[in-house]
Formats: sequence, structure tokens, C-alpha cells
Amino acid sequence: MLQQLIVTSQGEVRLPHFSSLTMAFAVCFVFLLVYHPVLSKESQEPTCLEIIVNKTYNCEGLGLQEVPDLLPNSTETLDFSFNSLYALYNSVFSRLENLEYLDLSRCSINWIYNEAFGSNARLSTVILAGNPILYIADTAFLGATSLQHLFLQETSVQDLSFIPLKSLKGLVTLHLGNNFISSIKFPPNITLDNLKLVNFALNRINSISVEDARFLKQIKNLTLILKGNNIEYIEPNAFNSSDFHHLDLTGCAWNTDLSSLLSGLIGLTTDTLRIGSFLDLDGNNFDVFPKTLNGLCNITVKELSLQYRKVSTEAKEAYSCLSKIEKLDLTWTYLDSIPRLNQSSILKELILNENKFSSLCNVSSESYPLVTHLHLVGNKEILDMGAKCLEGFPKLTYLDLSHNDFHVVKCCRVQFSGLSSLSHLNLSYGPPLPLDNPAFPENKKLQILDLSHFHLLTDESSRPFSNLADLKTLNLSHSLVNMSHTQLLDGLTNLAFLNMKGNSFYYGTLKGENLFSKVLQLETLILSNCNLQVIEKPAFQKLKKLKTIDLSHNKLTALAPDTFSGLHEISLNLASNMISTIPIGLVQNTSGGNTINLSYNPIDCSCSNIEFLTWFKQHEKIFLDKSNTRCASPRSLAGRELTEVTLTCGFSPMYIIVIVIIAIVCIILTIFIVQYFRRRIYAAI
Ligand SMILES: *[C@@H]1O[C@H](CO)[C@@H](O)[C@H](O)[C@H]1NC(C)=O
Ligand SMILES: *[C@@H]1O[C@H](CO)[C@@H](O)[C@H](O)[C@H]1NC(C)=O
Ligand SMILES: *[C@@H]1O[C@H](CO)[C@@H](O)[C@H](O)[C@H]1NC(C)=O
Ligand SMILES: *[C@@H]1O[C@H](CO)[C@@H](O)[C@H](O)[C@H]1NC(C)=O
Ligand SMILES: *[C@@H]1O[C@H](CO)[C@@H](O)[C@H](O)[C@H]1NC(C)=O
Ligand SMILES: *[C@@H]1O[C@H](CO)[C@@H](O)[C@H](O)[C@H]1NC(C)=O
Ligand SMILES: *[C@@H]1O[C@H](CO)[C@@H](O)[C@H](O)[C@H]1NC(C)=O
Ligand SMILES: *[C@@H]1O[C@H](CO)[C@@H](O)[C@H](O)[C@H]1NC(C)=O
Repeated sequence: MLQQLIVTSQGEVRLPHFSSLTMAFAVCFVFLLVYHPVLSKESQEPTCLEIIVNKTYNCEGLGLQEVPDLLPNSTETLDFSFNSLYALYNSVFSRLENLEYLDLSRCSINWIYNEAFGSNARLSTVILAGNPILYIADTAFLGATSLQHLFLQETSVQDLSFIPLKSLKGLVTLHLGNNFISSIKFPPNITLDNLKLVNFALNRINSISVEDARFLKQIKNLTLILKGNNIEYIEPNAFNSSDFHHLDLTGCAWNTDLSSLLSGLIGLTTDTLRIGSFLDLDGNNFDVFPKTLNGLCNITVKELSLQYRKVSTEAKEAYSCLSKIEKLDLTWTYLDSIPRLNQSSILKELILNENKFSSLCNVSSESYPLVTHLHLVGNKEILDMGAKCLEGFPKLTYLDLSHNDFHVVKCCRVQFSGLSSLSHLNLSYGPPLPLDNPAFPENKKLQILDLSHFHLLTDESSRPFSNLADLKTLNLSHSLVNMSHTQLLDGLTNLAFLNMKGNSFYYGTLKGENLFSKVLQLETLILSNCNLQVIEKPAFQKLKKLKTIDLSHNKLTALAPDTFSGLHEISLNLASNMISTIPIGLVQNTSGGNTINLSYNPIDCSCSNIEFLTWFKQHEKIFLDKSNTRCASPRSLAGRELTEVTLTCGFSPMYIIVIVIIAIVCIILTIFIVQYFRRRIYAAI
């Protein structure tokens, strides 16, 4: 029998000689006396978490009143939020000259004095959110020449002149959400040539005059966020000839009609305009009629969002001023039929999520001639999807119908007929439906098909995807696929990614001949949570291109050494199984680019697994999540990380002594018996 001798980092304790023991005690005692103050100070001062050595530290919520001495001068990223600083002087951060990112959220800062960041020339981001700031010196940011991002949310700012913008010439983003600001007017003689974003969300802005907007309107490609302000009036021409990237007026105009807001935006050009609402502002919203949006005719906008606005259902008119819009977001707008757009619409993307449509079929084919992307997720009614229902969208390439229920008896031949350009189809979280055979005969260009959580009802002869030679990605996770239907994946000759998570194998066995044997280009195969207990040897043999196999969260206890033979550069996830010993042949041929995740397995750390454990030590880099890769047996090592265990296996002296004694006893016994019988034979003679 083999016996183990364990030598761990704390291991190998030899009992020292008595006199040296006394000596050691004395030395320790003296040491404690001498260093007592240092030790007690260190143990009192909470230490910051080191994220990246010498660069990134987290000192969040430690009650600190100053920068701890232990923080190295080279620190670049510092989270110092939720401490107690009260005032920022020049000296507070002067030591940290390499600082680039500083989070001072909720540090009870009241005063920010002269050159508070004067030594931090590389500082680019300062977060001061949630501080009750009473005073900022005009020279507070002098010296912080790289400052680009300033966060001042919830700091009780009332007026922009409170912020020393004159010395912030390089500012790119300015975050002022949740304050008491009533005007977007910037102080005179300010130059902010790099300004890209100003966020005024949730302030007290009620109106915007031409004068107020003078500074911001001249900034090209600006993102201006005004959401959550109760803006009742925008003076016409306030934004005349301004050229923005993004203007967010979500949840503005609680007490006025949207049209009055829009008429103030006359002459504006912006890539995106948001004039939706918030869900909880429901009662306060005026309905949107087609005429309400007529102001859009005097605005140039590419993407428009009306999320959560109540769009009137009675309107029969076409939305005439939407004809220049390329992307329209009508999420949760209480619509029960798809709105009619002007015939000359150039719309490319339409978002209709979370409405109350009963049918998709009565869309005039002239309304959306150019739409390529249609999102209709989580409709609140069961959708009627008759034959050729989506013909109103002849150019569709992307269709997301996830989280919907359909009045359909069989899927999906007639429903998606005519959509010959379709390349991305999402039917995840759909109802249980039998599939046609083939299911998508007219959608030969499909590349991505998501049928996750869509209960597939198939039978043994089903070959639903047989015509989808272009399909690259197929998600069949949690689709109750019957894994014994070996023809299911026939025809998927170019499939590279297959997710089968959460489908159970019959008797927990992945057979040698299985449904994956047909998808020869497969690179990624996800078989986690598949109740797998056994993988027969040739199961993956035909899949020569396989690079990633996820077998986590199964019930595998063992794997044959050559299960993945012939596969190079593979990343293998075996986490959360019941594997205790790993045959060395399974991992031996893996090369540099490989990874193996063995976490949460009951690894055997006794000498019977020594071959693998030694290999593990030599190739630690290959293994992921090592802190959760632990021994389960023998008991003395249970819970220990594999990386800290060193085994020495061999014959123990005790074992040799026992063997020798037994051998001697045997010899003596033999001699004795021989003697005894000899005597009896002689006696008999
Ligand atoms: C405008 O700004 C956005 C984001 O701020 C950026 O993605 C875009 O490239 C910019 N466009 C131009 C023309 O500079
Ligand atoms: C709006 O801007 C344009 C172009 O700068 C200018 O011609 C026009 O007069 C402005 N309109 C008003 C009412 O200021
Ligand atoms: C567009 O602006 C002009 C004045 O500049 C105004 O007469 C017209 O009514 C506006 N159109 C809409 C639809 O608001
Ligand atoms: C459609 O848009 C064009 C150009 O924007 C406009 O001239 C026409 O009146 C609109 N038609 C309808 C029915 O609103
Ligand atoms: C399909 O929709 C689901 C739910 O809306 C989403 O989680 C998933 O990422 C989508 N799939 C693809 C391939 O985009
Ligand atoms: C899977 O298919 C086989 C063969 O058609 C059938 O015998 C078995 O009952 C099916 N399993 C389930 C769970 O439907
Ligand atoms: C299905 O898999 C695709 C590809 O990885 C992924 O983008 C998508 O989010 C997955 N669907 C769901 C519902 O998780
Ligand atoms: C390894 O697998 C575990 C369990 O599934 C997972 O939590 C962890 O994120 C994985 N680690 C890596 C690095 O992939």
C-alpha cells in the first residue's frame, strides 16, 4: 500500500530542541515589545483592496479621513468613495501624481480649495457625486490639466457659475444629474472645445430660452441629456441650426402637449432624439396624435424614440413628419395596431416591443418598404401570425420576436414565407410548437437562429433545419430537444456555434453516434446542464474544428483519456461535475492556447491521482478558476486548493518494517512447520 506524506506551505513542523524553543520565545517577545505601536496601528487602519498591483486600489467605505500611507505613489485608479474627507486641500492627493481616475462619491466633502488636484496632472476623471459641496474655489482644478470627465451629480448645485469651468478647458463630459439647476445657461467667456456630453437629468429646468441655449447650441455633435426635467417651454429657435449627436428629452413636458416642446426645437439637427416618457409618469402624459408630431417636419432627426408615450389608437392619419426618420422606437406606446407611415418613408429599423398588437398581418406593404430590422419583443397579446403575414416588411434581415405567444398550430413555414433576405431570427421564449419539416424553407439566408426556451416538438424523422446551409449560430438551449433524434441537425453544414444548454440526454448518456455527428464545422458546443453522466468515447471524434466545449453543471464522474483526442487549442469547461480523478491522457496533449475549467469538482488529492496532480502543478496556467478548484479527498486535504497541495508518494519506513516483520514471521513459521512435520515423519518411522 502507498502512504502519503504531505508537505504544505504550513507543513513540515519539526519539534525544536527545548533550549532553542525558549530562545525563540524570547526573541518573539522582544520583537513584539519593540514593534507593538506599529503593529497595533496597522491592525487598526483598514487596508484598501489591491485590484492591480501598484495601480488600482479600492478604499471604498473604510471610514478613512486621509489617503493611507500604504497606498503607493504610483496609484493610477483609486476608488475612495464612502469615506470622510470634509474638505479637499492641495495636500490630500498631492502624493499620488500618477492618478488618472479618482472616485470620491459620498465622502461628505463640503469644501474644495485652491489647487485641490494641483499635483495630479494626469487626472482625467473625478467623481464627486453625492457630496454636499458648499464651496469650490475658482482655482480648485488648476493643475489638473488632463481633466476630461467631471461628475457632480447630487451635489446640490443650483447654478453652472458655481463650477469653475474656466479652468476646465479640456472637459469632455460634465455630469450634473440630480441637482437643483434651473437653467442650462453657461457663464460667459467659457471655452470648452472638447465638450461632448452634458447631462442635466433630473434637475429643475422648466424652460429654455434662446439666450439659455446660446452656449450649447454651437457645440457640434453634442450629447445633451435633459431627461426628467419638467420642461414646459422651449423658445422657438433656441436650437436653430444646432447640430447635435443626441438630445434626450425623455420624461420632459409633464403638463404640456409634446407638440409645444417640438415647436421649440425648430431648426435642430440631431442624430437621435428622445421624446418618450417614463413608465411611472403614466397618468401625466398627454396622448400623442399624429399631428402632435408635426413639429418634426422642421427638425432633422435620424433616430426617434417615443418609449412609454401613449400613442393614440384612434388616429387614422399617416404620420407625415416621420418620413425622414431611419430608426423609430415605439416600445410600450400602448399601440394595438402597427402605425401607418407615409409612403415615402426611409425607415430602416422599427422597434415595437411591449405593445398590444393582436396581429402582425395587416401592415400595408407600402408603409415599410425599406425596413431591415424589426423588433417585436414581449407583445402583451397573443399574436396572430397567418400565412405571409410579414410580407409588409419585404426587406427584413433582422427579426426579433422573442418573448411572444402565437396563435399558430405549426411553425414556421407559412409565417416567414417571402422573407428571403432574413439572416437573424429570434424566436426565443416562444410557445411550444411543432416544427414544419423543413421549418424555414424560404429563409435560406438565415445565419443566426435563436430558439432558446422555445419548446421544440419534433419527431424522429424531423429534419427542420435541413435547408439552412448558411446557418452559423443556433441556440437550442432549454428547448426540450429530444437528444435521441439524431437527424435533428441534418443539413447544418456550416454551423459553428451550437448551444444545447439545459436539454437532457436520455439515460444521461451522450452516445458515440449522436446528433452532432452531422455538424462538422462546429467550433463551439455548449452542453452544460444536460444531465450528462457518461460520454461515450467517439462522441466528439468527428468534430475536428471544435475549439470550445462547455460540459459544466453535469453529473460526469469520469472521462475516457481519448475523449478529446485529435483536438488542439481547445478550451474545455468541466466545472461543477463529479469528477474526482482525471486520466492524464485527457489533458496531456493540450498545448499553450488551451484552457480547462475544473472548478467545483470533488478532486481526489491522494496518491492514486498523483500523475494528474503533478501535471496540474506543471501546467497551472492552463487551468481557469483555480481558487475554486479544490480537493475533496482524502479528508485531511478536503477543501484545500489544488495549487497549494504538494504530494509525495512512495513507500513509508513503517510500511517497510511491517513487510520485513511479516516476512521474518513467515520464514520462522515455515521453518517451524517444516521442522514439526519432519519430526512427525521421523517419529512415524
Ligand atoms: C459624435 O459623437 C458620437 C458619440 O459621442 C460619436 O460616436 C460619433 O462618432 C461622433 N460623430 C462625429 C461626426 O464626430
Ligand atoms: C435659423 O437659422 C437659420 C440659419 O442659421 C437662419 O437663416 C434663420 O434666420 C434662423 N431663424 C430664426 C427665426 O432665427
Ligand atoms: C415649421 O416652421 C415654420 C416656421 O419656421 C412654421 O411656419 C411651420 O408651421 C412649422 N411647421 C410645423 C409642422 O411645425
Ligand atoms: C409624405 O411625405 C411627403 C414628403 O415629406 C409629403 O410631401 C407628403 O405630403 C406626405 N404624405 C402624407 C400622406 O402625409
Ligand atoms: C433573443 O432574445 C432574447 C430575449 O429577448 C435575448 O436574450 C437574446 O440575446 C436574443 N438572441 C440573439 C441571438 O440576439
Ligand atoms: C425521444 O424520442 C424517442 C424516439 O422517438 C422516444 O422513444 C422518446 O420517448 C422521446 N423522449 C421524450 C422525452 O419525448
Ligand atoms: C443564444 O445564443 C446566442 C449566441 O451565443 C446568444 O447571443 C443569445 O443571447 C442566446 N439566447 C438566449 C435567449 O440566451
Ligand atoms: C469556471 O466555471 C465556473 C462554474 O461554471 C464559473 O463560475 C467560472 O466563471 C468559470 N471560470 C472561467 C474563468 O471561465
